[in-house]
Amino acid sequence: MENYSDAPIGVFDSGLGGLTVMREIMRCLPDENIIYFGDTARVPYGSKSRDTIIHYVEQILHYLEEQEVKAIVVACGTASAYALEAVRHKVSVPILGVVRPGVRAAAAITKNGKIGVIGTEASVKSGLYESLLHKINPELKVCSVACPLFVPLVEEGLWRDEITTLVAKRYLTSLKEAGVDTLIMGCTHYPLLEETIREVMGSEVRLVNIGVETAKVLSRILSERGITKKTLDAPPVYRFSSSDAPEKLCRFGEYALSMTIPEAVRISIEDY
Ligand code: DGL
Repeated sequence: MENYSDAPIGVFDSGLGGLTVMREIMRCLPDENIIYFGDTARVPYGSKSRDTIIHYVEQILHYLEEQEVKAIVVACGTASAYALEAVRHKVSVPILGVVRPGVRAAAAITKNGKIGVIGTEASVKSGLYESLLHKINPELKVCSVACPLFVPLVEEGLWRDEITTLVAKRYLTSLKEAGVDTLIMGCTHYPLLEETIREVMGSEVRLVNIGVETAKVLSRILSERGITKKTLDAPPVYRFSSSDAPEKLCRFGEYALSMTIPEAVRISIEDY
């Protein structure tokens, strides 16, 4: 690439949920080129072991580095919680996850010091949200709930459905009863269920979209390193790839990003 600053940003998730992070990056950094990869053949990561998740993430990083990206966003709560620190030293470009930006925002927003965290089983089990929140303020009360059915409901497109409302009520009641005033949606699939989550939690509870916070941090990192895109007369190029069913990524992406996605490429990620 002639001008390194014009290289794309690599964004990946276990599946399609990371598109919610891509959406926020597109809003915050509308000129940037982006490559999205969804590991749709191996989703969900949330029920896998730490070693397996790290192995998957390493393969995706090889693929993205081969695409000559200038920065990488781990747009997956589970992979951020389990793999980011283990792989950080293996890549030559800036890499960031979604957990820390979400945690910092929640700690700044809460008024009553009671924060809820929802995520995959693995994310909740990692205890990372809780320990990072307590590092910022040991007085915070943190209540975490795993919501394993949310990811398949999102991947099935049941974003607004009575089944989803029922499941949300089942998962979120204890958080409501605990009186949290801030709720971290600690999985990148969840912003697609935001309306349902808001309905169940009540409008007084602030929902933290970790993608929004991550996009802001990414923007800061690019400008600090002087690698914000320079060629502004060319429109941004968005490329999409997945390890399975690229046509599903196109369909889903059209809803999630409100744009037409003419093509997504299937990548044999096991070869990396
Ligand atoms: N979007 C992923 C996350 O943020 C989904 C998790 C999964 O694959 O189970 O955790």
